Amino acid sequence: MNDVLSPETVKLDTVPLSPHIATEIRGLDLAKPLDGATIAALRRLWLDRAVLLFRGQTFTQEDLLRFAGYFGEVGKRGLSGKAIPSALGGVHPDIMFISNIRKDGKTIGALPDGEMNFHHDMIQTEIPHIASLLYAIEVPSYGGDTCFASGHAAYDTLDPEIKARLEGKRAFHHYQYGSQKRGEPGRASDLVDEFAHPVFRTHEENGRKAIYVNRLMSLKIEDMEEPESSELLAALFDHAEKDEFVYRHQWKVGDLVIWDNRNSMHARTDFPSDQRRLMWRTQVRGTQRPY
Ligand code: SIN
Repeated sequence: MNDVLSPETVKLDTVPLSPHIATEIRGLDLAKPLDGATIAALRRLWLDRAVLLFRGQTFTQEDLLRFAGYFGEVGKRGLSGKAIPSALGGVHPDIMFISNIRKDGKTIGALPDGEMNFHHDMIQTEIPHIASLLYAIEVPSYGGDTCFASGHAAYDTLDPEIKARLEGKRAFHHYQYGSQKRGEPGRASDLVDEFAHPVFRTHEENGRKAIYVNRLMSLKIEDMEEPESSELLAALFDHAEKDEFVYRHQWKVGDLVIWDNRNSMHARTDFPSDQRRLMWRTQVRGTQRPY
């Protein structure tokens, strides 16, 4: 079902992709600069739906960075991002490759193969990126889907007893860059970041709370003994990953997705290791500590 935004804004042709999260926007060519009213409408929709999808885009790396800039200041890529020149024209310093493609036996990008647990990008840092963008250049014939889970919907439906026990608590996050599953050593490097943030994050722009812990990186509830901390974290992970909160995106070449890391987390499904997958990724900087 298509819906149209309110009259004082430009009319966006939009299609909700799941009940709680993700909307497709049709009819925009993002390789061309957008006017202020369109940007404002996209931003409003993004704050509500957390994930926006645009299909059939043909981008240069500069186009991707210009579009990311409509949502804030473009952020530096994660430490595992590699600036390896490639047959595709090289990598802009603010863009990283997510890819399993190998050249001379070495991967040309980060997070190369297989499945990835749910996570919030850069939650392990003091001021995490607020948004990330992926643009699909090459995709496998099946698998390698990215699943986005709504932190707001998960918070709103959380067992009130668990909520009461965790209200006001912080969780400690640890990430070894390149790691794709909980407890797995980093594939790309031994670089590690760690930080603690509220278990329930208030979104500074829409005022709603979201569950802000994830299976990949969240290790412990601060000021709470074991086994209670692990039991509560496991309950949060299981609840927040429920299918009812998730939109699963099956990539096509030319898809662009932007997501909000403050109220959504994402994971990747497995895909054939002998099929190429290449995404360009960039991100938008946060401006304050989560609260
Ligand atoms: C990421 O988590 O940034 C990568 C997701 C993906 O490759 O689908």
